Amino acid sequence: MSVVTESAIGHDELAVLKLLALEGGLEGDVKISCSHLADRLGASNQTASRRLQRLESASLLERDTVSDGQWISITDAGERTLHAEYEDYRRIFEQKSTIELDGTVTSGMGEGRHYISLSGYQRQFEDRLGYEPFPGTLNVDLREDSIRRRSAMASLEPIPIDGWETDERTYGPAVCYAATIETADGDVYEDAHTIAPERTHHDDDQLEVIAPEKLREDLDLADGDHVTVSVGDRK
Ligand code: CDP
Repeated sequence: MSVVTESAIGHDELAVLKLLALEGGLEGDVKISCSHLADRLGASNQTASRRLQRLESASLLERDTVSDGQWISITDAGERTLHAEYEDYRRIFEQKSTIELDGTVTSGMGEGRHYISLSGYQRQFEDRLGYEPFPGTLNVDLREDSIRRRSAMASLEPIPIDGWETDERTYGPAVCYAATIETADGDVYEDAHTIAPERTHHDDDQLEVIAPEKLREDLDLADGDHVTVSVGDRK
């Protein structure tokens, strides 16, 4: 688990962040008192203060307390969080059909290679994805706003991969989504898929990508490089 999820905030805090942005918190410092905030939230002073504290610990805002209130500004991470919400709403109202997730390339524990090579999965990949994947998964550590946005994938049409079994053990079902990978240099790889166990956690902070080619070679990627994964409906 990375530190990213530990600082994740809930919907209550997000509502406060939005309120602060409406009051000008993206443009610079805004002065706010806890009682004013509590009023607007319809909550107690303690509740308002606790939500501000959580936003501050998550580095989504910075504040400076003075005698009659506090000066608050929304950080870049805070702005990204709001932006992810905005994109969700765009998706809802404009029927955008892809979800863009940002993160950095990372190394796993070498398990991807083993699972992707198993014949029970291989047959289905060739059949349902239309290719034999490079043996492995490219792991992407998602940015905090993308972890949140990941739940929007529920509205996409998945490509199911069935579970199967041998005499010794069973292998669980998985879910793939069509994906395009774009690097910070603007290089694009279109024929990839995300893959995850069918029963996955919504706040999972890593995305695993499979493709016919080795993406690290094709896109010249190394650990720490930034990528945008656009996940969409099945092609
Ligand atoms: O778990 P780990 O990241 O060590 O590796 P893996 O899943 O066994 O994959 C082997 C290597 O190939 C890793 O460096 C992956 O990041 C990379 N890979 C890739 O570049 N493109 C793919 N389509 C799949 C894996």
